This record gives sequence, C-alpha cells and structure tokens, in this order.
Amino acid sequence: AHVSFDSSALKQFVHDNELGEMQAMVNAADQQLRQGTGAGADFRDWLHLPTDYDKEEFARIKAAAKKIQSDSEVLVVIGIGGSYLGARMAIDFLHNSFYQAQAPAARKAPLVVFAGNSLSSSYVHDLIELIGDKDFSINVISKSGTTTEPSIAFRIFKELLVNKYGEEEANHRIYATTDRQRGALKTEADAAGWETFVIPDGVGGRYSVLTAVGLLPIAASGADIDQLMAGAKAAEDTYVDPDLTKNEAYQYAAYRNILYRKGFTTELLENYEPNMTMFAEWWKQLAGESEGKDQKGIYPSSANFTTDLHSLGQYIQEGLRNLMETVVKLDTPNHDQVIPAAESNLDGLAYLEGKNMDWVNTKAYEAVVAAHVAGGVPVMTVHIDKEDAFTLGYLIYFFEVAIAISGYLNGINPFNQPGVEAYKTNMFGLLGKPGYEEVGAKLRQEMAD
Ligand code: PA5
Repeated sequence: AHVSFDSSALKQFVHDNELGEMQAMVNAADQQLRQGTGAGADFRDWLHLPTDYDKEEFARIKAAAKKIQSDSEVLVVIGIGGSYLGARMAIDFLHNSFYQAQAPAARKAPLVVFAGNSLSSSYVHDLIELIGDKDFSINVISKSGTTTEPSIAFRIFKELLVNKYGEEEANHRIYATTDRQRGALKTEADAAGWETFVIPDGVGGRYSVLTAVGLLPIAASGADIDQLMAGAKAAEDTYVDPDLTKNEAYQYAAYRNILYRKGFTTELLENYEPNMTMFAEWWKQLAGESEGKDQKGIYPSSANFTTDLHSLGQYIQEGLRNLMETVVKLDTPNHDQVIPAAESNLDGLAYLEGKNMDWVNTKAYEAVVAAHVAGGVPVMTVHIDKEDAFTLGYLIYFFEVAIAISGYLNGINPFNQPGVEAYKTNMFGLLGKPGYEEVGAKLRQEMAD
C-alpha cells in the first residue's frame, strides 16, 4: 500500500473490543458525510474532487504553469490559511531539501515563494530584495477576496509588477484564484482581464489543496499534478467502505476518538524528514479548524524528529500525560546515504560503519515508539512508502477523510470555522475599517481602563 495505518503500539491504551464498539458510530458518521445528512453538508465537494474535478480548468492550470516557467524566475504566491498551506507543504514535500537555494538551472522551474501569510513588513522587504530585477509573476489566492494579509501583500507586489512591466504586461503576469463569481478579487480580476481559477463553492480552504489553490503553484514548481490527483483518486477509491476492519483512514479517526475520550487531548503529528515540517502545518489547520469548536476537540500540535527529541523529547517522555502521537513515517527515502568507514574510532561510530542512514533513522523511530509508549503516550503510525506526488495525493486524502469522520464522531460541524472571525472584528475596529467604528471605540476604551 502507498499509505498504511499501524495501530500496533496502542495495545496498552486500547482494549481489543473498543474499535469494534465504535463501528455503529463510525457508520453514522460515514452516512452524515457521504449522504450529506451531517452539519456543514454544503462543504463536502472535496470528497469526490479527485474524480469530479474540472478537466478544462486542470488543462488551463498546466498551461499557466508552463507560461510561468517560461517567463518567470520567481512566482510570488499570495494567500493565507487554506489559501496557502497546501501548496507550501506540497512544494516542500516534493522537491529537493534545498529547493530555495538551488540554482535556477537545477530547479528547472521558477522559485515559488509565498507572501500574504503574515503582516511582517520585514518579510515583504526581504522578498522584494530577493526578487530584485528577476522576472516574476503573481498567483493571488483568496476565496473571499477580502482577507487583510493577502490583500495588503497583493497591493504591494502588484505595484512592483506594474512598475516593472507596465500595466498591460503585468496583467498577463497575474493569476487570480478565487470564488467563481463573488468577491473583490473576482471583480478586480474581471476588470483587468487576469486569468482566473476557481475555488469551488463546496470546498473549504483547508480542503482546497487539490483545487487550483494548490495545483497552480505546485505545477509551476515543476511537480507532477497528474500523479498528485491519481494518488488522491486511488485513496478516494480505497477509503469508501466504513467497515473498520478494512478502512484504515476510518480506523485512525476511530482510534483518535477513543484516545481523546480517555484524556489524550493533544495530538502531535510527527515526521522523521525535515521536508515534512510544513506537512504538519497543513495538517494542523485541517485538524484544528475542523475539530476545535463547541469548547471541545483534540488540540493538534506537531514535532519534527529526530530534531525535537533533543528539545520537546523530555516533555513527551515525562510531561503531562495528555499527549498522543501520530507519526508519518517514510519507509523508503528518495536517496539513502552510507555511513563511511574511518581509520580511527575516536567518534565511537565504528559500529555503524557501512550502515545506511535511513536504517539508523528507522531504528530511532522504533526506539522512540517503544520509549514513548512505556512513558504513557499512545503512538499511531501512518506509513508512506515513498516521497512522491502519487503518495502525497494519497496521504492528503487519507487525512482529509479521516478528519471529517473524526469531526462527526465528536458531534461537531467539521466544515465551518466561526471562531476565526472574532479577532478580525477586533482588528478591523482597531484599524479603523469603515463599519467597525463602534467595535474600535469600545476596544480602545477597554484598553485605556
Ligand atoms: O480555512 C479557512 O477558511 C481559512 O484558513 C481561509 O482559507 C483563510 O482565512 C484565507 O481566506 P481567503 O481564501 O478567503 O482569503
């Protein structure tokens, strides 16, 4: 299998009967999801995206990626949250570890850089400096078209583009990914004649990586989006039967729910590959924004191993016992490395001479699982056989469907995110946005008191 789920380290935490006893609830969650009887049913279109995607748009995405590759050294991708994390994690996952530093010739594609995912002025300054006099294009991504961070970044980089190329040429270098018909970005794109791509109505931000939101930057980076979709399609076909003895994505959802009810309320997503750090960030949005509501839900966190074994490791081994771990373990690295022989054994490593580094990495993983389980932390593992586009598509779908089922198991709407608005209202008040004067006055008063 390209992706397989291993729960063998849960024995001391979950009795044999418990998974089977979840079956009726899992069946109900599956019905809510697949028949649309659950809360948030309007946002389930990601479920069949690997089959029912817009083929004409997919061809346009590939054509746009080719054009960007032919006329740009840098692609500035502007977006935040669900309009950012998918492309970012996929590009890290699918390229050389030093992709950013690679020479353009080795990369064979433009450098894809991200903006509009913070309000840091230094970051923008540094990115402008990085672009310098290089040819560049912009892919601005926003479903609403009104999100503050990407809107500000877009103003700045659009001005840079127009100053460099003039209005007409700049209009051929802006690609807007947004709502089919609504929003400020769509209006601006239509007026200027930018090429536009659609974020479908029935797909929320955190579920959008396999739409143009993720696909255009990923394709522009030179990665294979046909294989990405093929992997997701294989997973779509695999995880259809709710039977917990067969469906590993549903097993993962059921086990984390069982563990959550036992007090394991924080889940760490872990990897043993530095280029999967952003994968965990994508997963944290998927899990946290889907499940953290109505004053409940697993808190999604992450750790990168073996790096963090030398920092967080202490806490995981002996701190508060509310942690569970899910390791995404790569079974076969793209490149292995032999540990060389040396004349002297001053470093004490003679016992590892001739061994592959990945063998050592895997032994570290096995040792960590044993130690953490002994320390009272349940560990699950999602094995992936390779780090390629097919496997990534498969893995994305595994987690998407598992988190949706998990949300229904916990009795919440996995597809809304009402809680992300509260800070925005306050911020608009403090910034003096028209319409938010009262909020601003009230907050300023509170802060003065
Ligand atoms: O998942 C979400 O809804 C958020 O993370 C959004 O994707 C994020 O706020 C960006 O929104 P928009 O695409 O409307 O700019």
